[in-house]
Order: sequence, then structure tokens, then C-alpha cells
Amino acid sequence: MTFDEKLKKMTDLINNRLRELLAPEYPEIIYEAMAYSVFAGGKRLRPLLLLGACEAVGGDMSEALDFACAIEMIHTYTLIHDDLPAMDNDDLRRGMPTCHKKFSEDIAILAGDGLLNLGFETMLERASKQQDMRYLRAAETIGSLCGVRGTIGGQVADLLSEGHKADKDVLLYIHEKKTAALIQAALKAGAIIGGAGEDELEQLDKIGYKMGIAFQIKDDLLDITSTAEVLGKPIGSDEKNQKSTYITVFGIEKAEEDYLRLSGEVCEGLARFGKRGQFLSEYSQKLIDRIN
Ligand code: IPE
Ligand code: IPE
Ligand code: MG
Ligand code: MG
Ligand code: MG
Repeated sequence: MTFDEKLKKMTDLINNRLRELLAPEYPEIIYEAMAYSVFAGGKRLRPLLLLGACEAVGGDMSEALDFACAIEMIHTYTLIHDDLPAMDNDDLRRGMPTCHKKFSEDIAILAGDGLLNLGFETMLERASKQQDMRYLRAAETIGSLCGVRGTIGGQVADLLSEGHKADKDVLLYIHEKKTAALIQAALKAGAIIGGAGEDELEQLDKIGYKMGIAFQIKDDLLDITSTAEVLGKPIGSDEKNQKSTYITVFGIEKAEEDYLRLSGEVCEGLARFGKRGQFLSEYSQKLIDRIN
């Protein structure tokens, strides 16, 4: 199977399972809003990393599918809330009107809450049905990295940095927490389910940190250099909100330099996983070259 064939197969598996998990019931509007944002598009980066990490440590990817879907639900909740008028106030996401534009602000807030909860419910149901500590540990890892010590803390620091230039340390805190944390969570949770040893987990944690910082540097660059058509979200959002970004704090040259350096280090780190880590390596290469 070529890389592209495998990517398609894995993406289809993730999307089909997400459809099942998001099957509507009463009151339908909330399921409609959750599914609208989940299926609006999206690269499926975090679930693909989770499955790729499971495989890279010798695990069975099918055992990690529910966790892959859960992390995509959690990621989508962060996007819905990030776009709200009280936060970045953006109207376009994944090439479609944002959740609060398509529905209403109250429903968008609840759709975000719904996805966050359904993500945890999905993981914990798996853990309790299988009576398997790997699942519990993977859920705990995701919980700790998407909470106040992770994504939420990063989003708060991001809001506090509006209107002035953040210190370098604060900017790195923002990028680590708001973005790298969930990427680290994806790699570590996949690896835990795949039966990784502590050494492998530590390596993936470091790789996830670098991948996450690089990913957010690129996101900051694309906000200046891309177009809304290509990105599927508005450009100039950071400037509009007077955000501190890697570019405003370190300058565009260092942003590009650090992006390439960190991306190179990610590739080197993943190469150590050998043949089993081939999908993860090739997918990371694809991310480095991404245009949206
Ligand atoms: C956007 O994430 C939010 C950031 C952390 C920069 P993605 O670029 O992965 O968004 P989707 O899932 O492809 O829409
Ligand atoms: C958001 O960072 C990260 C999270 C949603 C947690 P941004 O605000 O830069 O993400 P985009 O550019 O809107 O996707
Ligand atoms: Mg934001
Ligand atoms: Mg935003
Ligand atoms: Mg951005």
C-alpha cells in the first residue's frame, strides 16, 4: 500500500467511526452543530498522529480508533470556542461559516462543550469495557494535556497577550500549551495504547513538543502569507486581534529558521522508530510541507 492509499484508508476509518459516535438523537440541533464542525473539513492531524504512534511502537491501530476520534472531537471543540466572538471572533473555519455563524452563539458554546464531553465519554467507555489500564492511562494523558495545564492554559495566556508584545518565554508557553500539548497528547496516547515503553514515550513527548511548536509557527506564518481560500479560515486574524505570535515576538526570519530546524529534528527523532514508524515519518514530512 502506498502512503497516500494508507492515509486515505486511515482517514476513512476515522471519519466513519466519528459518524457513528455522533449519530443524532433528541435534541437534534446540538448533534447537528457538533457534526457540522467535525465534518466541515480538517486535516485530521491529531487522530492520524495518534494512530501512527500506536503503529510506530508495534501496536494494533484498530485498538486506538476510538481514542483517535475522541481527540478529534476535543480538537474541534477548541476550534469552535477559539472562533467565538469572545475569543478570536472569526467567521470562517475549515472553509465554512464558523459554528456560531451557522447556528448561534449559545448553540456553538454547547456544541463545543458537547464535543469535549463526548470525547471523554468515548475514551472512558472503552477503558471501562475493556478493563485495561492502557486506556485509562491514555485518557488521563489526554485529560492532563487539554486542561488548564495544557490547551486551556495556553488559550488563556494567548488572550492575555493581546495588545502588547509578549515576552519570549510567555510566547513559548502559549505555543507549547495551546498547540503542542494536544499534539503531544495524540502521540503519547497512541503509543500508550500500542504498548510503548517509558523510553519511547519520552521520545514521543519531545518529538511532539517540537512538532507542536513548529506547527504553530507555521500557523502564525500562514496567517500572514496565505489566503482564506487556501487556509479555509480568515487570514490576518492575529493582527486583527493584536495577538503576540512567533513573528511579532521573534521576527519572520527567525520564525522560518526555527520552523525548519524543529521540523528537521522531528524527522530525525521519528527515523529512530524504523520501519514501524514509516507512516508517522511520512505523515510528518507531509505536515512540514503543508500549505493549509
Ligand atoms: C488549527 O489546527 C488550530 C491550531 C492549533 C493552529 P489545524 O490546522 O490542525 O486545524 P484543522 O483540524 O486542519 O481544521
Ligand atoms: C488556536 O490558535 C489554538 C487552539 C484552537 C487551541 P489560533 O487561534 O492561532 O488557531 P487558528 O489560527 O484560529 O486556527
Ligand atoms: Mg486563538
Ligand atoms: Mg484562532
Ligand atoms: Mg492561527
